[in-house]
Amino acid sequence: MSKVDVVIGCFYGDEGKGKVIDYLAADADVAVRCTGGDNAGHTIKANGVKYAMHLIPSGLLSGHTIGVIGNGVVLNPQVLLEEINNLKEHGYDVDKYLKISDKTHVIFPYHSKLDVALEKVRQAKKIGTTGKGIGPSYCDKYERSGIRMEDLYAPDFKERLKEQTELKLALLKVYDPETDYTKELDFDKMFAEYSDYAAQLEPYVCDTSAFLHQALKDGKKILLEGQLGSLKDTDHGIYPMVTSSSTLAPYGAIGAGVPPYEIKKVITVCKAYSSAVGAGAFVSEIFGEEADELRRRGGDGGEFGATTGRPRRMGWFDCVASKYGCRMQGATDVAFTVLDVLGYLDEIPVCVGYEIDGEVTKEFPVTHLLEKAKPVYKVLPGWKEDIRGIKKYEDLPENCRKYIEFIEKEIEYPITMISNGPGRDDIIYRNK
Ligand code: GDP
Ligand code: IMO
Ligand code: MG
Repeated sequence: MSKVDVVIGCFYGDEGKGKVIDYLAADADVAVRCTGGDNAGHTIKANGVKYAMHLIPSGLLSGHTIGVIGNGVVLNPQVLLEEINNLKEHGYDVDKYLKISDKTHVIFPYHSKLDVALEKVRQAKKIGTTGKGIGPSYCDKYERSGIRMEDLYAPDFKERLKEQTELKLALLKVYDPETDYTKELDFDKMFAEYSDYAAQLEPYVCDTSAFLHQALKDGKKILLEGQLGSLKDTDHGIYPMVTSSSTLAPYGAIGAGVPPYEIKKVITVCKAYSSAVGAGAFVSEIFGEEADELRRRGGDGGEFGATTGRPRRMGWFDCVASKYGCRMQGATDVAFTVLDVLGYLDEIPVCVGYEIDGEVTKEFPVTHLLEKAKPVYKVLPGWKEDIRGIKKYEDLPENCRKYIEFIEKEIEYPITMISNGPGRDDIIYRNK
């Protein structure tokens, strides 16, 4: 590890970031969640137990890594407290290892109500959000009316929450006039609940940027944990079918509050095939029995959303999108995951170009052109072997190595890690 490494996704999310973070956390003193909220679901298999991490940094599961929820995150306290209790039940000393930035924005029930109501308004142009209130809470942040962790302890908290609740009720009346939200968003109940959450979370809240600054001075290793993947980034993703925060590595510096020049490694996670949750263009998407079989066999027990349980849309590996995804992250290393899943296929199509209006391109286009793109496939031979348990690159079947090397050439970024199983140690290092 260098001083600060980032682990981030290359595609539409769910690439296996949690698994890679969990592996790298063995060498990390601190792990920081920098962006997003409980829309994230990172699955980790540690000591035989499966965890779906939503807000707590996945690195904390190492048992010795301090987990920081950074200022770039939007935090639902109820979800966090459930996660804390679950980890405590599994023997984790969360009180010792968790810190929350005092600048982290808080998600309130009106944010998720607005999220769902806005999706209704969008009708045919639904984004397919997780409904967790992520978009509306980032709206408040950038509109400058958000309530941060520090505000929960300020004398005017009650007044501000009242003001926001009334405002949001008025907005909901516009977006969804048929529904009466006054009972669901009862101010007194909400204030009492959030006062209780605030008291429970107070011991974890601090100036995490100052903590990280000291950690760097002391020579500690920091792992920044990204959410989602490049193509769901608000600026560089498939706008508007994106999330409402940056999913790119440079934002890690902001979302944690560390100097950007300390980031030396950007480990970009690419899955050996593609998946997506929610709406939006997906050029190499497959359907029918072919997709069902890959979904059934995919991940660890099937490709279903770790947060919403939705069946993930499935597709073949897309070199055009992944090359772009790596470029936008500034990838220094690619971790190539879930490769073991493809062992059942005789042949594996790989998308190597997009045909748009009769022309073939290898450059990832803007959204209105992407929607017209048709995949150009190169079909590679499969290896028809179970590769789980293999520890050395040279021991992988020849066609499997050819698959990796073909993709590496197409995306133009070095694949230095290969994940061949969901477990902590199912990783093959490749010296490049
Ligand atoms: P994240 O959001 O990027 O952390 O990814 P998710 O956890 O949502 O989805 C990845 C899925 O793939 C999870 O079910 C993981 O347990 C699983 N997984 C990760 N790496 C591997 C691997 O190399 N092989 C297999 N079979 N499953 C993996
Ligand atoms: P991880 O971190 C997959 C998708 C939603 C929707 C879009 C916007 O586990 O990779 P939002 O609720 O953020 O406003 O929804 O982003 N989405 C995810 N898809 N994995 C996730 O997280 C996701 N978080 C959000 O489905 O298309
Ligand atoms: Mg996920």
